Amino acid sequence: MIDEKITTGDFLPTDMDEPLRPKSFSDFVGQEAVKQNIAVFVEAAKMRGKPLDHVILYGPPGLGKTTLAKIIAHEMGRSLKMISAPSLERQGDLMALLTSLEAYDVLFIDEIHRLKRQLEEVLYSAMEDFKVDIILGEGTGAKTLRISLPPFTLVGATTRMGDITGPLRSRFGIIERFDYYDKESLEKILTRSAGILGVQVTAEGIREIASRSRGTPRIANRLLKRVADYALVEKKLPVDREFADYALRRLGVDEKGLDEMDRRILRVIIEQYRGGPVGLSALAASVSEEMETIEDVYEPFLIQQGFIQRTPRGRTAGRLAYEHLGFPFSKDDDDWLFGGESQ
Ligand SMILES: Nc1ncnc2c1ncn2[C@@H]1O[C@H](COP(=O)(O)OP(=O)(O)OP(=O)(O)O)[C@@H](O)[C@H]1O
Ligand SMILES: [Mg+2]
Repeated sequence: MIDEKITTGDFLPTDMDEPLRPKSFSDFVGQEAVKQNIAVFVEAAKMRGKPLDHVILYGPPGLGKTTLAKIIAHEMGRSLKMISAPSLERQGDLMALLTSLEAYDVLFIDEIHRLKRQLEEVLYSAMEDFKVDIILGEGTGAKTLRISLPPFTLVGATTRMGDITGPLRSRFGIIERFDYYDKESLEKILTRSAGILGVQVTAEGIREIASRSRGTPRIANRLLKRVADYALVEKKLPVDREFADYALRRLGVDEKGLDEMDRRILRVIIEQYRGGPVGLSALAASVSEEMETIEDVYEPFLIQQGFIQRTPRGRTAGRLAYEHLGFPFSKDDDDWLFGGESQ
């Protein structure tokens, strides 16, 4: 059920989430501030008959950035072209994309912080003046060819706002940050998803899954599907609280929503590094995971929940981490971890 108007870049994986993805603002639950702002800006752009100003959406993975980009195109009544920045190699790739746009189309560039520098420079004039310069030939004989582009909206998504260069950031008129969802929003999302998937689950079952989904709709939907698998095979439909708890445990998801890797990270900081501080590269090596994945995927939630702190000298485990894993936590540790310079 992929929208006809949406073309997916060759390099993006097929989207298994598509049936669950909200198609309009009214289906999009939570992120109220972001949603309301964008809705106003879309409305104003339509009233003016102008393209929507360029948008950057940032925040941890799975919170709905791609979803909202698709909704923006849908609400503007325009087509969406999607591409992931790492798949753009040469300037020609980007030029081909830009020149294929039609007036007011939305160009979605995922992981925009990974765009190559030369490509970023092409974007500057494309975003500002809807023009791009191509240099033909070399040396003294080189000529510049200026190509006009249709007015378009660039929507960039990133999990790493800090990695976006100043010049690029300054060309976005709309900058919106996504936060983890509260339980009520996740419950609504799960109820909708269960309806679409035809999974029978009680309100308590929904609540249990919601509270263990790390504030993230993508995780919530994934856990719902896997719990439903267990329920189907073990003939335990509808899913109630008790069964959800049982299935989530089997999936390695504990009552705080932490998975195997989350717990490994906490355990390594506590056991191998005496609570920290430990640098990111040492931590990554100890848990055999990419630094980037730890920083983008695991750490933000652990920090938001207070399991770890990020200090200039590295990561430290907080009292909550000790308590959660059942390690003793002494007041001295507390002073040492949070006192003075380590902040
Ligand atoms: N507000 C929402 N309401 C309902 N479902 C949502 C919402 N946000 C996201 N989802 C669901 O979660 C899935 C993940 O969302 P999405 O792909 O938009 O995340 P993302 O922020 O782009 O993640 P990434 O940074 O990994 O690209 C979607 O397929 C959709 O089903
Ligand atoms: Mg995405």
